[in-house]
Amino acid sequence: MTDTLTFLGIESSCDDTAAAIVRLSGDRGEVLATVVAGQTELHADFGGVVPEIAARAHAEKLDICVEEALSAANLTLRDIDAVAVTAGPGLIGGVMSGVMCAKGIAAGAGLPLVGVNHLAGHALTPRLTDGISFPYLMLLVSGGHCQFLIAHGVDRFERLGGTIDDAPGEAFDKTAKLLALSQPGGPSVEREALSGDAKRFPMPRPLLERPDCDMSFSGLKTALLRARDAVIAEHGGLPASLRSDLCASFQASVCAVLAEKTRRALRIYMTLNPANPVIAVAGGVAANKAIRHALETVSDEFGARFLAPPLALCTDNAAMIAWAGIERYRSGARDGMDLSARPRWPLDARAPAMLGSGKKGAKA
Ligand code: KG4
Ligand code: ZN
Repeated sequence: MTDTLTFLGIESSCDDTAAAIVRLSGDRGEVLATVVAGQTELHADFGGVVPEIAARAHAEKLDICVEEALSAANLTLRDIDAVAVTAGPGLIGGVMSGVMCAKGIAAGAGLPLVGVNHLAGHALTPRLTDGISFPYLMLLVSGGHCQFLIAHGVDRFERLGGTIDDAPGEAFDKTAKLLALSQPGGPSVEREALSGDAKRFPMPRPLLERPDCDMSFSGLKTALLRARDAVIAEHGGLPASLRSDLCASFQASVCAVLAEKTRRALRIYMTLNPANPVIAVAGGVAANKAIRHALETVSDEFGARFLAPPLALCTDNAAMIAWAGIERYRSGARDGMDLSARPRWPLDARAPAMLGSGKKGAKA
């Protein structure tokens, strides 16, 4: 095997169509190009991602994104060593579109194919961006995921806990909707919260009474709804200053829950792996400055290194899939034309399965 590997990565498991080119030289990965075509406007009227619309848009955009990525990297398929694709978990139509596209390219260009778990893509990103070694603690926190994982190896993850219902990003998006703020909800709620009083509306801190690392965010949405309705009943509308207070109170609760559960996850992790004190985050919610600050404070308590990849590699993208593909390929993994799309695909098969579906597909 040469010491340089150049992979095309393809991602289409939710509402972003993405292609990227990543090169491994020696031990370091480099993102040569990353293209993401989002679908926010297509789903804006529906209050969530509509699977059929998403799948159709992926099918229309995938080859365009691949061409754009190749051209941005100034490469052709002849320069590519293999194709990596998200094979799950996610919305089945989108995952199938990506897998079919990857199979077509691999077969046509005579390239190896590597299927990648989307969550592994997120979880392996700190090795691409910061070159860290195993093990490390990972918090995935986005609109579709929320879980603590110990990354032991390329294909070995241990789930310490996670949400038992909604992901925090979903709660931010719902909060924005209830308060007539723009989508995606995270950034608009964060902006409003800046001028709000976080103590004005007492919000629950779900599952803090349980000693484990599991979380719940669906009750927070209901609490927010009740508080909003009480304000409207009292004031005949929603005054701007109280809207900011609602945002600040909601955000403070998410922060408190994530910080305390991170403390518990770090305690477990540090007992098992005292020599590698590292916690990394990924997912769109990790962009929130208040949450990031709270997590950094907790990692400081443990003397742990806190890593947050650049936002473009934190949110859904194909560079993380190309990189995870490189990692799997180096460990000997190859997939054939029988690679199937898996809507559910937990990273840790021993951890209890998540029930139900979020607005971004089946829970892994
Ligand atoms: O990782 P991501 O792009 O996609 C997946 O969900 O997989 O994350 C998007 C989610 C949305 O729910 C969005 O509202 C949330 O991340 N988000 C934020 C912020 N920026 C994005 N949540 C809180 N604060 C933010 N600044
Ligand atoms: Zn994701």
